[in-house]
Amino acid sequence: MDAQLSTLQADALAAIAAAADETALDVARVKFLGQSGLLTALSKGMKDVPKEDKPRVGKLLNDARAAITAALDARKAVLQGATDAAAFAGVDVTLPGTPAGFAGRGSLHPITQLLDRTIAIFRRMGFALADGPDIETEWHCFDALNTPADHPARNEQDTFYLPDGRLLRTHTSTVQIRTMEKSSPPIRIIAPGAAYRRDEIDATHLAQFTQMEGLYVAEGVSVADLKGTLEFFFRELFGNDAKFRFRPHFFPFTEPSYEVDIKTSALGAADRWLEIAGCGMVDPNVFEAVNSKRGDRAFDPEKYTGFAFGFGLDRLAMIMSGTPDIRYFTNSDQRFLAQF
Ligand code: DAH
Repeated sequence: MDAQLSTLQADALAAIAAAADETALDVARVKFLGQSGLLTALSKGMKDVPKEDKPRVGKLLNDARAAITAALDARKAVLQGATDAAAFAGVDVTLPGTPAGFAGRGSLHPITQLLDRTIAIFRRMGFALADGPDIETEWHCFDALNTPADHPARNEQDTFYLPDGRLLRTHTSTVQIRTMEKSSPPIRIIAPGAAYRRDEIDATHLAQFTQMEGLYVAEGVSVADLKGTLEFFFRELFGNDAKFRFRPHFFPFTEPSYEVDIKTSALGAADRWLEIAGCGMVDPNVFEAVNSKRGDRAFDPEKYTGFAFGFGLDRLAMIMSGTPDIRYFTNSDQRFLAQF
């Protein structure tokens, strides 16, 4: 028994020392100390040991178990230390960490940046900010804006209607009406906001986009004021070499109406006219619609005239930044947004 024990202990210590990793070490532990391991098997021989030898042999068994356990623990510590060192190899823990989320500073969305610039320029010319609801009545969106019932924009194919007959505004021109309902001339406002159309979504169309509306009503407002205001605004944005063309057009709510085209070397497309805005002199029918809603003659077309304009901020941002597809503005792609 004594000899068997010392051989077993020597074998165990040798196997532990040879274990190259924690798995091998565990195999050794099970082999010698496990429930059906060699030491356990040897302990079973205690019953055949003569009575007077039992205390001594029992102590030898315990000493062997203790020695093997200690060797296992020591070897395990060495192996774990090696594993940790391997994991940390090449890691400089004194370097600054990587911020969670994304590395780098965020910035304002390109449309927001353009919106801020636009508002700042119009503020310098005395325009105040106005707004109105995205969910509108047909009256504010069409009737009050001199748009007849058979106008194509009023079609369910072109506009999002709610079951109660209201709709998602198809343009921010609704804010002209909202503003004139509650204040009297002189009025000089801009109204940025969302507009909605049932367009097929493609490189130049979204179902929701951003418009900037403008309205100036006072005594003696003329087409010259309209031209001067818009040319000043677009020169601030595009630079002084920008050339403009006010091309006659039709809008139900203005008469006369124009589309504004721009040509500028700043866009690298110097020989091409780009359409950037709609505008015109407020149609007297619009003033009369507001008057009848208000029940007064605050907007007497014999006394007041006004101009209005509207343009798409998304389209403007596309032109200015050379963005080929309007969908870049809404798909939250960091590679695109990080450029602004
Ligand atoms: N509401 C027009 C549109 O969405 C843009 C527009 C044209 C606005 C002429 C105006 C205007 O105020 O006078 O296409």
